[in-house]
Amino acid sequence: MKTILLGITGSIAAYKAAEIANCLTKDGYSVETIMTKGGCAFITPLTLQSLTKNRVYTDVFEEKYPREVQHISLAQKADLMLVAPASADIIGKAACGIADDMLSTVLCAISGIPVFFAPAMNTNMYGNPIVQENMERLRRVGYQIIEPREAMLACGDIGKGAMADVGEIVTLVEKTLHTNSFDG
Ligand SMILES: Cc1cc2nc3c(=O)[nH]c(=O)nc-3n(C[C@H](O)[C@H](O)[C@H](O)COP(=O)(O)O)c2cc1C
Repeated sequence: MKTILLGITGSIAAYKAAEIANCLTKDGYSVETIMTKGGCAFITPLTLQSLTKNRVYTDVFEEKYPREVQHISLAQKADLMLVAPASADIIGKAACGIADDMLSTVLCAISGIPVFFAPAMNTNMYGNPIVQENMERLRRVGYQIIEPREAMLACGDIGKGAMADVGEIVTLVEKTLHTNSFDG
């Protein structure tokens, strides 16, 4: 069974990550969820645990299994990593190699797998040249940014910044895993 690491950050769109996790689990993938503190403010780890039937990781120092270093084991077992929704914050941290919580540490530890970020944020945040530069940096190392949609955003602004549709994200992830299996 292929393992997908799903990172969830502090955005209103976090509730949509539950649907992503549900679809991927039902389609036969093992989904291991890693949530930031911000992500947990919008949706509970219990929701993700119930949907994926897997433990949810929120704390880099919660080492339940003495024989493993959890962030390294997770990184090593993953076939693909998806961060959805991806906040401006996690994009910046990943682009700079900052590892100060479980999600950013796992992002630092993964190697040789496809990595997707589905940004979700206010239009001005998305258009911020520093955020754009950070995304460009991620693209340069081969990570894929799943373009957000134009929509009426939770803050009331209209513009680009709404997370891509769940169906689009799930299809992209599954296609990538399928193609990689075929290649292998
Ligand atoms: C109601 C609310 C909605 C937010 N939505 C977003 C969002 O969609 N995108 C974003 O980048 N930050 C958003 N933020 C701000 C982030 O939660 C904040 O920058 C946080 O530090 C992100 O941390 P994380 O990346 O560790 O989850 C929101 C904050 C609040 C209070």
